[in-house]
Amino acid sequence: MKKIHLSSVDSTNAYIKSNYKELDNYTFVSSDNQTNGRGRNNRQWKSENGKNLLFSLLILDKELIKHFKEISIISALTIVEILEEMDIKDVSIKWPNDVYVGSNKISGILLEAVTRDEVECLIVGVGINVNQKEFVGDYLTKPISILNIINREIDINSFKEVVYGRLIDNLESLLKGHDFYPYIYSHDYLKGKQAYASINNINELVQIHGINNDYSLKISVNNKEKNIDSGEITFHI
Ligand code: BTN
Repeated sequence: MKKIHLSSVDSTNAYIKSNYKELDNYTFVSSDNQTNGRGRNNRQWKSENGKNLLFSLLILDKELIKHFKEISIISALTIVEILEEMDIKDVSIKWPNDVYVGSNKISGILLEAVTRDEVECLIVGVGINVNQKEFVGDYLTKPISILNIINREIDINSFKEVVYGRLIDNLESLLKGHDFYPYIYSHDYLKGKQAYASINNINELVQIHGINNDYSLKISVNNKEKNIDSGEITFHI
């Protein structure tokens, strides 16, 4: 495994996508700046140069690739664990894989797969708001940073090492069959909430029951229960 740090790149996910054939499993690519940082559902990921942790992890291991359904939520859980260890309160996972502190988003994850005849690799892209003070512009959910919460800057390089180490540990535990569900269940931001969700392009009020143990989400629409598998649904609370 190898760590690559760039001062600027279009997107760390895109960098891995172009270079994965020459890279090893668990290669970690971080950057101070992204000129075309991308979020889920074709959104942009904006970040002030040098202020936040922006990275992507390459997964080539075929056994781990089989766990693609769990990888993004376990990456989110990894960030929740680390923030809680920093004594930050009210940290949760907004299904499928956003990390919230209170009702503000502190981190987002973009999991991408490169597929030819089969999945060749997975790319776990993570943005964590660390030392950015202000977030100006349009955001779906108001962002928050670690600095906003603890009122001091932290060393991004040391933080990066902690995140990298813990993420690999958790992925290795996933391979060994560790059950992460109890921790996820107890950090479920949406559980019990009502929200508007666009389902087949129609905005509906849904009741959210919470994350199931297969990491799908149980909701009720018009009193009818259903489980949602994909993250291609956006909730507006
Ligand atoms: C989201 O919440 O929509 C996901 C955001 C993911 C952002 C990270 S930053 C590092 C990596 N490179 C990208 O272009 N995106 C991910």
